[in-house]
Parts: sequence; structure tokens; C-alpha cells
Amino acid sequence: MTGCCTVVCDFLLEYDTPRIVLIRNKKVGAINRVVQLVILAYVIGWVLVWEKGYQEFDSTISSVTTKVKGIAITNSTPLEEQLWDAADYVIPSQQENSFFVMTNFILTKNQVQGRCPELPNKRTRCKSDNDCTAGYYNRRSSGVLTGKCVRYDEKVKTCEIFAWCPLENDAVIPKPAILGAAENFTVLIKNSITFPKFNFSKRNILTNANSSYLKSCQFNRKNDPFCPIFRLGDMVQEAGEDFQRLAVQGGVMGILVVWNCNLDRSTSKCVPKYTFRRLDNKNFGETVSPGYNFRFAKYFINKGGIETRTLFKAYGIRFEVEVFGHATILCDIIVLYFLKKSNYYKEKKYKCVEDSELGIESEDSYGTIQNSGKTN
Ligand SMILES: *[C@@H]1O[C@H](CO)[C@@H](O)[C@H](O)[C@H]1NC(C)=O
Ligand SMILES: *[C@@H]1O[C@H](CO)[C@@H](O)[C@H](O)[C@H]1NC(C)=O
Ligand SMILES: *[C@@H]1O[C@H](CO)[C@@H](O)[C@H](O)[C@H]1NC(C)=O
Repeated sequence: MTGCCTVVCDFLLEYDTPRIVLIRNKKVGAINRVVQLVILAYVIGWVLVWEKGYQEFDSTISSVTTKVKGIAITNSTPLEEQLWDAADYVIPSQQENSFFVMTNFILTKNQVQGRCPELPNKRTRCKSDNDCTAGYYNRRSSGVLTGKCVRYDEKVKTCEIFAWCPLENDAVIPKPAILGAAENFTVLIKNSITFPKFNFSKRNILTNANSSYLKSCQFNRKNDPFCPIFRLGDMVQEAGEDFQRLAVQGGVMGILVVWNCNLDRSTSKCVPKYTFRRLDNKNFGETVSPGYNFRFAKYFINKGGIETRTLFKAYGIRFEVEVFGHATILCDIIVLYFLKKSNYYKEKKYKCVEDSELGIESEDSYGTIQNSGKTN
């Protein structure tokens, strides 16, 4: 029993674990149960059921391709009768997760580089050559000033510029929209999704669809909610907008595809849900840069061998396809694992103490703990 080694060695070779005492007292027990009940209600009610804490989830990766179909015939001046198909009005022909359909435009034909008078406005009107500084231009100019003041029409003189002539005059936007027939065009949206964690893939052309069905079907929320072919007019209408009004100055529409899949259930119940909404804000005032437009040109060499272009100011609707996905699966492994462990520890760790025993803790109980320590 001598020497410090015994003390130090005992200390080093010791293992201690907190001891839990089970108190058989009605008051303490009742309070304990109430607290446990509150915690249990929180865990089961909120974490497990509401937040689906018992499930594992994964987000989707997805791909989208689109194909627009439909034709339109225009015969209004200044155009002669002309037929428009997808190659003419879908610009550009390929885009990532979106497509643009031209619904209206201002056409300026046969532009060549040369000299012509500016369109008349406060900035460009002039009385003599002194009002026009040669070489001057800014970002709002259509071209570079030549330094001459020339006649625009019988009444007005404007500064002459070097530019693509004749100049585009976009003061008046055609109304109704020239390609308003786009309301009847359709688009096929192909969407494939994958939940990588669960090795699960699916596409929005469901397995029960055959090719004859795909040729004739059209999305209809009530009668055919899984047909991947959408009429442009229907999508705009579901978003609460008027297609012909939107077509005049253009806008941006969102096609939302939502996949919320519980993979514990049949995978045939994992289906897309489509919703449509207008993304650009139409309420920013009709006069301040409304709608959506851009310019593009088609170039060719004219009979005189001079480079010539046809300029389009295109108004239209850009449709953006956005895919959201969320899959869940039951994750019972963790629950079982913890249940097994907790039973094992419970057996080893708890010791029963009766109310009547208080104050007479015996040598025996101490021995029991030591013994169970040794058997481990
Ligand atoms: C769309 O098609 C329907 C029926 O084919 C036709 O009555 C309607 O005028 C068309 N709409 C436009 C804007 O061309
Ligand atoms: C994923 O599933 C396919 C069949 O659905 C199977 O061939 C492939 O081996 C699976 N991959 C993994 C990593 O489990
Ligand atoms: C295609 O599916 C439709 C029902 O969705 C069915 O009526 C039709 O017979 C099928 N056609 C072929 C060729 O399988």
C-alpha cells in the first residue's frame, strides 16, 4: 500500500463514466415525463414529420431542349406576302434553357454604308453647316457627322452623317403585332432530370407516351397535364397576360418545371408540374424602356457588288425554362443504428434506486459497479 506509483498507476489505468441514478419519486418523475413529452413532440412533430427529418433528400441536375413549331403569313405593307417559319422567328435557333420567339419587328431594307441626313430631333436639327461638327458622334448617334447641314424633307434640315443608310425609324411600333399569329405556335420542351445521390433519372416525356400521342397532344392543365407540347398563347394566358398585347413590345416569360419526388413511393408518381409566369415587370411604366427588343441584320452583296444589309429591330417573347427538383427517400439505417446502441448502453449504464433506499447506499452497490466495470 506504499509508494506513489500505486496512486499514479491507479489514476492512469482508471476509466470513469458518469453514473445515472433512477429516482422512483412521483413528483420528480411527473416533471421529467412532461419535459420529455415536450422534447418528443418537438422531435417527432416538427423535425421528423414537418421537416421530413427521417428522409434523405437530393436536388436535381437537369437538361432542357426546346423546339418551336408553327407558321405565320404576313401581307401588311411594307412587306409583300411572306411566310414565316421557325427558322425565321426563333432567334437564335439554339439557346441554353430558353428560346426567343419574334412577335413584332421594324424592318429597314437595303441599308448600305453612305451619307444621309439624321432623323430630325432637337439634337440633330440644324440651320447651317456651322451647327454640325465634322467627326462628332456619341453613343446615341446613328453615325458620324460629316459637317454638312442637309435637307431631311421640305420643312426640316438635319446634320448629315456617315452611317448605314437609309436610317431606321423606330418611332412607331406596329400594332397589332406583325407576327401575332405566334399565339398559336407550339413548343416541345424536353427535360431530363437526375438525382445523382439516388441514381434516379427520368424525363418529362413519360413512359406511357407513344409517338402518335406526342404528335397530337397539347398541354392542358385539366385534360392533359403531362403533354410536353405547349401552345404559346396558353402559357401567356395562364400567367394572366394578354398575348396580343405582350406581342407588340415583347417580354420575358418563365416556364417553371417542378419535380418533387418521394422515391419511397412508386416512381410513376414522380412527375413534373408546370407553371407559367411573366418574369419582366410590366408595371414599370409603359414609357420607360418597356418590353424586350434587340437588333440583328442579314447581310448580302447587292447587284452593284456593295455590301448591303436588312436591319431588324425585333420585339418578342423570351421563354426561360427553369427546372427545380427535390427527391426524398426514407433513411431508416440511422434510426435502427441508434436504437440498437441505445438499448445496449441502457442495460449497462442504469442503476435502480428505490425512494426508500435513499441514505442507505451500501457497499454492495459500489461493488456492483466495479464488477460490471471489470466484465467490460
Ligand atoms: C389561332 O388558331 C385559331 C384556330 O385555328 C384561329 O381561329 C385563330 O385566329 C388563330 N389565332 C391567331 C392569332 O392567328
Ligand atoms: C444506376 O442504375 C442503373 C440502372 O438503373 C444501373 O445499371 C447502375 O449500375 C446504377 N449505378 C449505380 C452507381 O448504382
Ligand atoms: C398510343 O397511346 C394511346 C393512349 O395514350 C393509345 O390509344 C394508342 O393506341 C397508342 N398507339 C400505339 C401505336 O401504340
